Parts: sequence; C-alpha cells; structure tokens
Amino acid sequence: MKFFIDTANLDEIREAYDLGVLDGVTTNPSLMAKEGITGDDNVRNHYKAICDIVDDKVSAEVIATEFDQIIAEGKELAKIDDKIVVKVPMIKDGVKALKYFKSEGIRTNCTLVFSAGQAILAAKAGATYLSPFIGRLDDISYDGLELIQQIVHIYQTQGYETEVLAASIRHTMHLVKCAEVGADVVTCPLKVITGLLKHPLTDSGLATFLADHAKAAGK
Ligand code: E4P
Repeated sequence: MKFFIDTANLDEIREAYDLGVLDGVTTNPSLMAKEGITGDDNVRNHYKAICDIVDDKVSAEVIATEFDQIIAEGKELAKIDDKIVVKVPMIKDGVKALKYFKSEGIRTNCTLVFSAGQAILAAKAGATYLSPFIGRLDDISYDGLELIQQIVHIYQTQGYETEVLAASIRHTMHLVKCAEVGADVVTCPLKVITGLLKHPLTDSGLATFLADHAKAAGK
C-alpha cells in the first residue's frame, strides 16, 4: 500500500519524505487556501516546490467544473512537472475529462467519491486513482471503510486498473483498516503517518533497555 501525504504544507511534506515512506502528495483547494496560496503564479510555483521535494505523484486539483475549462486547466497543471496527477471532481464533465486525459497520457485522480456507483464510472472512464472519502462518510454515520472494501472487491472482480486511493483519513486505525481491506494507496495528514510509530510498550521497553545498559556499564 502506498502512502501519500494529504497537505500543501512544505515542511510537513519534507518531514514525511525524510522518514523514507512517502510515495506521493495530495492537495485540494482547501489545503492550498490553508497555506495562503492564491493566484495562478503562486499556485503554480507552490506545486513546483512540492514536486521538487518528492519523487512522484503530486495531485493538483482543477477548480473548473465545465469540460473545456477542466481540460485547459488540467493541461496547464500537467505542464508544471511530470510528477503532477490532475485531480478532477466526480461530476459529469469531470468523468468526460478523465477519459480525455487518459487518451492524452495524463494521470488523473478522481476526487469527491462517496459511492460504489461513482467508483465504477470513474474506472470505466480510465481514472488512474480514485479517491473515496472515508472520514466525511463516517461524519454522517455511513461506514467509510465498508465503501473502501466494496470498491476494492468490485475493482478486483472486474479487473479495473484504477487504484483505490483512500482519502479523508482521520486516524491511524483508518489507515490500518485500509491496508487490511486492500486499498492501493492511503492519503493522510502527517500526524496519522507519525502516529503509526507510537506504542507505550515501545517507549517503556526502550527506557528499560537504556537504563539496564547504563547500570551494567556502571554509569
Ligand atoms: C484528498 O485527496 C482529499 O481532498 C482529502 O483527503 C479530504 O480530507 P478531509 O475530509 O479531511 O478534508
């Protein structure tokens, strides 16, 4: 399972990359706004700065919602760097755009996915990645992980090549369960990735080992 970090914050991207487990980055307009990135040139430069940190797979989301504009914006984003994956919303013109980008050899990430039907449509249209939002489903009392499991099963049964990129991950158990049900990728905040490190028995065990070593060495 690949790990993407879900942020536009350069320090967090660097920290995750330095840990040696990062396979890519996802951003969205809200995450860019959170970093105060506005204006075409600034947005472009920021995506380039992200691409300069990581090895590949940087999702950059289009703002347009009509086919012609989605195509124009997606092509501009793809020109920034070969590492860019164009992120397109699950709407009618977005589905048409997925098909178009596939024919042009431009990788896509279909976002704002909340049902198995949407997942089938995106795979048929040739999306590279599919982003079902787990946390936002959990927020309204639907089981986000059940949806991931269902989509993984459908994609395997049908032989679809689209990768399931579990998004809107809020905590480490979301990530662990995604691994269990066979998601291809998870995208999550830095705190979820570093949260995997934590266990009180690791901390107390290490403290004991170090104390015993010091005692034996007469320190
Ligand atoms: C990533 O591609 C999504 O935009 C993101 O995971 C959404 O997460 P949120 O529901 O925590 O905003």
